Amino acid sequence: MNMEGFIFRLASDNDTKWAISKLTADLSLSLGLEGYDIPMETYESMVAKVYSDIVSGPAPNALIVAESEQGERAGLVWVMRTRDENSGTDRAFVLDIHVDEPFRGQGLGAGLMERAEEWGREKGLSSIGLAVSEGNDGAIRLYRRLGYDTKRRIMMKTL
Ligand SMILES: CC(C)(COP(=O)(O)OP(=O)(O)OC[C@H]1O[C@@H](n2cnc3c(N)ncnc32)[C@H](O)[C@@H]1OP(=O)(O)O)[C@@H](O)C(=O)NCCC(=O)NCCS
Repeated sequence: MNMEGFIFRLASDNDTKWAISKLTADLSLSLGLEGYDIPMETYESMVAKVYSDIVSGPAPNALIVAESEQGERAGLVWVMRTRDENSGTDRAFVLDIHVDEPFRGQGLGAGLMERAEEWGREKGLSSIGLAVSEGNDGAIRLYRRLGYDTKRRIMMKTL
């Protein structure tokens, strides 16, 4: 699949370091631990462990990279097969999607999501899900535009 000026390809070993740094940036933002002064290296080693466990694990997964014609990496989507324990059915699940700031707003996020969906269909999966933080309005708008709606909510209360 091509979008003007970009190609989508599966990641190779050469992409691992770059991918881990992008996944780390998103994890450190989404965990909500800003007040704890946790060093970035802690997040990075957590992500590196999860990444290698999933990439070498039994569940099919794909890290798809968007690259400019100049060979510059612009974004990624990481998708895997997961089992829904309630229904016992398998679905695709987007572990993360990331587009670097200079490349945002050009449809690359949508292109990456479509590629993740294509991967899910190729694996015979009939649905795809993801988790997104309340307040990540740009991402939520993107998912809604692509046909996603809310099926579960994680709720919290101040103690
Ligand atoms: C969410 C994300 C992947 C979207 O990537 P993208 O390439 O900008 O996506 P698209 O261009 O397909 O669509 C983004 C929307 O933002 C708008 N937009 C325009 N300029 C933008 C900019 N500079 N930055 C972000 N969004 C912009 C787009 O027009 C589009 O329209 P909408 O707001 O009406 O929906 C990207 O913002 C990102 O990497 N965010 C940080 C990581 C993150 O939050 N990931 C999601 C975890 S669940």
